[in-house]
Amino acid sequence: MAFSNGVADFRSDTVTRPTQAMRRAMAEAEVGDDVYGEDPTVNVLEREAAEAVGKEAAVFTPTGSMANQVALNTLVRPGDEALCVANAHVRQYEVGAAAAISGVQFRTIDSSDGSIRPEDVETAVMGAGYHLPRVGLLVWENPLTASGGTVVPIKTMEATSGVARRHSVPIHLDGARIFNAAFALGVSAERIADQADTVMFCFSKGLGAPVGSVLCGTSDVIEEARYRRKRLGGGMRQVGVLAAAARVALHDRDHLRDDHVLARSLAEEFSSRFPTSVDLAHVQTNMVIVDGRVFPFTVERLVKSLADVHVLVGDLSPGILRFALHQDVDAGDVEKVLQVVDRLT
Ligand SMILES: Cc1ncc(COP(=O)(O)O)c(C=O)c1O
Repeated sequence: MAFSNGVADFRSDTVTRPTQAMRRAMAEAEVGDDVYGEDPTVNVLEREAAEAVGKEAAVFTPTGSMANQVALNTLVRPGDEALCVANAHVRQYEVGAAAAISGVQFRTIDSSDGSIRPEDVETAVMGAGYHLPRVGLLVWENPLTASGGTVVPIKTMEATSGVARRHSVPIHLDGARIFNAAFALGVSAERIADQADTVMFCFSKGLGAPVGSVLCGTSDVIEEARYRRKRLGGGMRQVGVLAAAARVALHDRDHLRDDHVLARSLAEEFSSRFPTSVDLAHVQTNMVIVDGRVFPFTVERLVKSLADVHVLVGDLSPGILRFALHQDVDAGDVEKVLQVVDRLT
């Protein structure tokens, strides 16, 4: 259902507001100084988060970007390359942090859905040596946000991560929405996470918590990551108030499946009206990319008409819209979008 002010916000799943259960948990949270390791709620959250993805340990961070950057800072030597798809969040949407903070440069793979193939890794490591930089990391993003939440098939991950491991290249997974990937692929989050040494996931996307992400991995790596988080200014104090909301988000994650169902229904409705406006094969999780250049009206007109009825949509690039489905929009809000579209048609 739309927010209490009547706005249905489809721009992103980051706009979700904390539920009553989260607000209650926040109010009642037991807290302590987490830099001393004394916040009991954070300690429980870190244990539960690590378990959810089958890793030994986890460290809570304010944002997914910080968790990604802490992973890079921990795993890659300055000057080494991190291999990722060209439009990976860690490269494209973290304001150059990898270069600025860790001296890491990226070698990019062109991929429309986030897949990196075994031969991409073979090619990258083959040239490394006297003149060329070492490949210091393979980064997965699953689902890939920039492609509208498409998932990387588990077999592709297994094959490519196998090659990276054979060459002793560490692996990080930006699994901001790992549970969406797990539902879409029909495999456990552990199996996806097993393809990487460190895994980041966010509580603050479709899971609906107001703040927070975690970086998970072996105890040794996470101990080092905790040290580096502090160096980046990410040592937090009585942060159990936020961890409490994140715990609720983690436990109640099954509702993500509903977002996938709603995304598919919105995509099919657009596709039935304007067949080339949506690539249905790309609608795999909770996002729908709509090519408005094929509408019989301008995209600007649609965006304005939706805003007039308190519906917000993401403007990705000229003519291209993104609808993200999440707990704060429902079938009634989707219907509202379609009514506006039909009025303009
Ligand atoms: C795939 C992916 N990774 C990382 C992030 C960064 O998360 P945050 O906004 O918490 O820094 C996002 C944010 O949308 C994302 O989509």
